[in-house]
Amino acid sequence: METSTTPQRKTIFSGVQPSGMLTIGNYLGSIKNWKAFEETYDCLYCVVDLHAITVRQDPAMLRRRTYETLALYIASGLDPEKNTLFVQSHVPAHAELSWVLNCYTMFGELSRMTQFKDKSRKYASNINAGLFTYPVLMASDILLYQTDLVPVGIDQMQHIELSRDIAGRFNQIYGDTFTVPEGFIPKAGAKIMSLAEPEKKMSKSDTNGNASVYILDSRDDILRKFKRAVTDSDTVVCRAEGKDGINNLMTIYSAFTGKSDAEIEKEFEGLGYGHFKIAVGETVADALAPVRSEFDRLMADKAYLETVMKNGSAKAAYLARKTLSKVYRKIGFTQPK
Ligand code: TRP
Repeated sequence: METSTTPQRKTIFSGVQPSGMLTIGNYLGSIKNWKAFEETYDCLYCVVDLHAITVRQDPAMLRRRTYETLALYIASGLDPEKNTLFVQSHVPAHAELSWVLNCYTMFGELSRMTQFKDKSRKYASNINAGLFTYPVLMASDILLYQTDLVPVGIDQMQHIELSRDIAGRFNQIYGDTFTVPEGFIPKAGAKIMSLAEPEKKMSKSDTNGNASVYILDSRDDILRKFKRAVTDSDTVVCRAEGKDGINNLMTIYSAFTGKSDAEIEKEFEGLGYGHFKIAVGETVADALAPVRSEFDRLMADKAYLETVMKNGSAKAAYLARKTLSKVYRKIGFTQPK
């Protein structure tokens, strides 16, 4: 196993919260794209359990979701030998750097974060300090590994901007310490909408049972949800303004098949929506079937998942400690050998 990083290779970091089952939107927008980086970058993918507790979690559920998220990384094709897969709380440097960076982040900056504003509305009875400083922990995740590139969804871009600002500010005061990271939004499937209300983003936590398709849904559930997908009163499968439902189904179909809009329009010419919806459902179900069976296999092998966790956190901790020592030295903390 590789333990050292080749200096000329760029570093990629990203993370997923173990706080709910992932949708095909999460899958297409994140994990599915990550495999493509593994040969050319040093990649670290983290299960961010420290972030998850900014909203109240059931302990047993959090524990299970942590295994599940890791299993899903692997089931989606990420090779644990080629990528560093780990759990955030297993590498204490994340929490340690986070404290330091809290002191280099302004109250005003954090107040402007739209995710904080949204979540304070959604969880009005639990607006805790962690929810407020969430982006500082995220900056710490990224900056600890001298990350060059952070693949994320568009909703996380503001946090990446803040990470850049924090890195720049620290470097300005203490000299070059952190690589200033770039955000990167994968093009394909960047935004998948709800099947029930196609003007809204597909969400992990939608209460409407037909709105979101989860990576681990059964074949029958997937087919049913696509059959019920909300469309419009037209009959022609084509991308057009006002056809949010059909546009979304085309985006999903395209993301799973690689077909262009023109190809899809041609394929379903004269066939109507019913036919199209079944085709999309079957395509998605077929594509996810191997992910699901690999996931089931991995979840039955906790010992293996724990080995991956341990190896991943050992690699991550080594890299993180290097950055953290540098930071401690620069700010004037004593570090007896
Ligand atoms: N905040 C991210 C999300 O909810 C998850 C995350 C935590 C993350 N730390 C990260 C993503 C670092 C990229 C890099 O989607």
